[in-house]
Amino acid sequence: MKANADPRYAVEVKDLFVSFRTFKGYAKVLNGVSLHVRRGEKISIVGETGCGKTTTVNAIAQILASQARIDGGEILFRGVDELKMGKKELRDLRSGGISMIFQDPIASLNPVFTIGAQLREVIRYSGADGANNKEARRRMAMNALAETSLPDPERIMENYPFQLSGGMRQRICIAMALATPRDLIIADEPTTNLDVTIQDQVLKTIRGRVEDKGSALILITHSLGVAREVADRIYVMYAGNMIESAPADRIFKKSLHPYTQALMDCIPKLSGGGIAGGIAGRVPNYFSPPPGCRFEPRCRHASAICREKMPGMSEVEEDHSVACFLYRDGR
Ligand SMILES: Nc1ncnc2c1ncn2[C@@H]1O[C@H](COP(=O)(O)OP(=O)(O)O)[C@@H](O)[C@H]1O
Ligand SMILES: [Mg+2]
Repeated sequence: MKANADPRYAVEVKDLFVSFRTFKGYAKVLNGVSLHVRRGEKISIVGETGCGKTTTVNAIAQILASQARIDGGEILFRGVDELKMGKKELRDLRSGGISMIFQDPIASLNPVFTIGAQLREVIRYSGADGANNKEARRRMAMNALAETSLPDPERIMENYPFQLSGGMRQRICIAMALATPRDLIIADEPTTNLDVTIQDQVLKTIRGRVEDKGSALILITHSLGVAREVADRIYVMYAGNMIESAPADRIFKKSLHPYTQALMDCIPKLSGGGIAGGIAGRVPNYFSPPPGCRFEPRCRHASAICREKMPGMSEVEEDHSVACFLYRDGR
């Protein structure tokens, strides 16, 4: 089972198809998603609301909703395909391999336990070195808070979530995610619900903590600006497909996919609440998606082949891949 895994990667997703059962039938959302994150690398997935970013990372963390059906693909973590893991392996994955920071810090904290109790529980569950010793757990919890630059960790340990501000709660979630060693941290729009004035600090905290611990990071955002600030490499996603990937600076200097180019044109509008407004047309219906490129109905450069076939990702220069027939010979 480990034969085809690349040891440089913290996680590798290969050709993943996911659909959701709904009252109208199956919505075919992920349409052959592939991505990799190198060990210690920080990547960001950028795209409009509804394009499948959360579905992709929830599949990696194995927390998909019960309506989800995996129709194909592989998710290699520590060299093993998660989709073939047994119960125990999946438990280890959740307790010590991958941790998540969610959009809503209130929903991820339990209102009836103190911050200290919740941190100690996460540490105990992780099975990290020393985690079976009560005093060691307390020390690790205090460290985790202090490392996240939360003032007065001693007091915060005794607090309940409602006693803290939104920014502090999100920092506690970061402290929890990074309290014990992890190969991969996933942050799904971690600053969307926060006041703009503290968004930047929270992003810096995530980046700093992930770098200190040598974990890999997947940051989901609908903002290219945020992605550039945090990530080494950016994936652009459109309607269930990865359509371009490149080092962060590169994609700003020279984006290739017509959709990425349209996103770049929309950057000044991003603060106004998203990118959808700036691009003509809408995301295709997942119940009867077009057979070819899912961006074709909105694309200025579309030609006959784009309506027939779905272009796969291909590397056009080192580390820069795009899924578009414009960059293929003999189109
Ligand atoms: N549990 C679910 N049941 C039905 N459809 C879902 C479910 N979760 C997500 N979807 C659909 O999948 C698509 C992608 O959603 P999502 O992955 O949340 O996108 P994003 O995170 O990029 O906004 C959307 O059309 C959404 O309605
Ligand atoms: Mg989402």
